[in-house]
Amino acid sequence: MDLEKVVCDCLGITNGMIKDAVDAGASTLEEVQEKTEAGTVCGACNEDIQHLVDFFVKERDN
Ligand code: FES
Repeated sequence: MDLEKVVCDCLGITNGMIKDAVDAGASTLEEVQEKTEAGTVCGACNEDIQHLVDFFVKERDN
């Protein structure tokens, strides 16, 4: 996974920033949105962010 890759173009939010939010305790798309504001402008990235959240939560909790 490329942590530098931008997932949310509106806000320039990268995969790594989603990972940081999950590592800081966020476990759902909504919690990641609260922490990072990712996906709160046009919403086009929310499906991708959801996949990332699922992936990083699994990694964190294993
Ligand atoms: S690309 Fe993420 S809110 Fe628009």
